[in-house]
Amino acid sequence: MLLSGQCSLEARVVDITTLTVDAIVNAANTSLLGGGGVDGAIHRAAGRALLRECETLGGCATGDAKITAGYQLPARHVIHAVGPVWHGGGRGEAERLASCYWRSLELASEAQCASIAFPAISCGIYRFPADEAVSIAVGAVLETLPRVPGIERVLFACFDDAMFARYQTELARRATLLRQSPPSKPA
Ligand code: AR6
Repeated sequence: MLLSGQCSLEARVVDITTLTVDAIVNAANTSLLGGGGVDGAIHRAAGRALLRECETLGGCATGDAKITAGYQLPARHVIHAVGPVWHGGGRGEAERLASCYWRSLELASEAQCASIAFPAISCGIYRFPADEAVSIAVGAVLETLPRVPGIERVLFACFDDAMFARYQTELARRATLLRQSPPSKPA
């Protein structure tokens, strides 16, 4: 676990659809009308009403996110973020992936969420290299936290042990960096 201000960051091996948190993030596509992977699992668990709300949203750009209710999920909200498809790294993939995390945290904060769980966006069907994606995910969350009031708990939901190990390594690395050079207090 890593502490940043009032917020804890933690990784767990867990099916994200089972989590009782204020918001879970979905790795969606630009249509927001469902798909495979974690998107399919979230829609199956939430029920048809989630799709009906998604149909009213007019899709979502890559790197952006939109929020809905959680319906039959234990989570109060679903934040549908659209990660980039990996094309080799030269098409702004890193920036767009980071922006999924910024936007999701902004929406969560606006909706008064204290706890939020992320899957490893773009690391499945969209083929983003996992080590780089994990570093971007943790870095983007740490950068964004100081400007999103009320977020107290960020959970990285990993579908397997290999992904969990990546987050553990990255969280430990960031904890060491923070100990060596803590962020300066505002004057
Ligand atoms: N809980 C937590 N993590 C999960 C779960 C789950 N229930 N299921 C899968 N993962 P992916 P993407 C992990 O492919 O790469 C969909 O068709 C999975 O092991 O779900 O962003 C959308 O509609 C991987 O580490 O998302 C889009 O078209 C991570 O979640 C496209 O896939 C993300 O894998 C998005 O592709």
